[in-house]
Amino acid sequence: MKPVKVGICGLGTVGGGTFNVLKRNAQEITRRAERAIEVAQIAARSINPQCVITDTPITDDVFEVVNNPEIDIVVELIGGYTLARELVLTAIENGKHVVTANKALIAVYGNEIFTKAEQKGVIVAFEASVAGGIPIIKAIREGLAGNRINWVTGIINGTGNFILTEMTDKGREFSAALQEAQALGYAEADPSFDVEGIDAAHKLTILASIAFGIPLQFDKAYTEGITNLASEDIRYAEALGYRIKHLGVAKRTAKGIELRVHSTLIPSDKLIANVNGVMNAVMVNGDAVGSTLYYGAGAGMEATASAVVADLVDVVRAMTSDPENRVPHLAFQPSALSHVPVLSIEDCETAYYLRIQAEDSPGVLAQVATILSKRGINIESIMQKELEEMNGKVPMILLTHNVTEAKMNDAIIALESLEGVEGKVTRIRVEQLN
Ligand code: HSE
Repeated sequence: MKPVKVGICGLGTVGGGTFNVLKRNAQEITRRAERAIEVAQIAARSINPQCVITDTPITDDVFEVVNNPEIDIVVELIGGYTLARELVLTAIENGKHVVTANKALIAVYGNEIFTKAEQKGVIVAFEASVAGGIPIIKAIREGLAGNRINWVTGIINGTGNFILTEMTDKGREFSAALQEAQALGYAEADPSFDVEGIDAAHKLTILASIAFGIPLQFDKAYTEGITNLASEDIRYAEALGYRIKHLGVAKRTAKGIELRVHSTLIPSDKLIANVNGVMNAVMVNGDAVGSTLYYGAGAGMEATASAVVADLVDVVRAMTSDPENRVPHLAFQPSALSHVPVLSIEDCETAYYLRIQAEDSPGVLAQVATILSKRGINIESIMQKELEEMNGKVPMILLTHNVTEAKMNDAIIALESLEGVEGKVTRIRVEQLN
């Protein structure tokens, strides 16, 4: 059979990895797809020194690739929103299938892109957009299709997890760990996307859509980064039997969908609490299967290429099938997407870790307890670190039971106004992952 012709747009970390994996594993890939997959054109601003390109035509204009009548599948690996959106929409318009690793593009413009792809009968595959080499889209969309998914939670930014691990295990500085993640090619072009949680929110938005059958709603995701995390909270959490991880949490509740990214205390005996370095892990809880865990490299040249190439094989297998018999882009049939609301953070409900700098004198603890109990906030445990007393103030650490964020906000305002309390109250959300 004639080879399928692929055009790769972007030859950076993931593009270079994709080219190399396609070349190295050509035989295995052909055995799987029943057709050879040939890179017929590449668009790149410069040649990746890790690729040996001998006879593939190269252009610096991505639109040459999307308008090339020879190309069957466009692989979009340029990143960003604006040019990538135009490129993908033009490719679809031209009747080409698309494979992309671009989570920002899918999270923000996915609804538009999938609608157009469905009109034109082409496939847009995006496995590499979430958790690098972990086939989490396929697992949720196909492997768990018999379940009503209750929640999805994960460590879905390798750079953030790398930084947190270095800070926790080696006591390294935030900025040194970030620089190393950048040098290793894990970080986004704009690393604030990693450390402010935006990258994780893009990925969580995609996971929530395919888990619950809702349109992509990145603008509704609550996002908090790791830049304000203090090392003493990492230590106190450990003393309480928890690790702090930067998690994406998507949860189905009676009121709507929770969609939030933030630092989170999780019990240290959970497998996911021991996912370190650049590794990613996603837990999915379904009503039939219970909790499942998917672990692997969330970033990196060939790990991400693994997902891009798997998508290429999938597209080659499915491109001759009737569009209506393919796996829907967002797991559920487009006409069956649900419009259940995504909740604001104030309506989300979770347990909390609170650190209060309090005066070490009689009555302060009673005042703190009164403020919480008046708002129906149940205290699970209290720890006071007397040894760390500074200027007559000691850190008082509390773990609470579940409460809405709105109630906790109100309690924190009251706590901060107490005479015996100094400065801001530190709040970190807690998930038991049961
Ligand atoms: N910057 C991302 C990360 C790359 O660190 O996880 C993979 O999406």
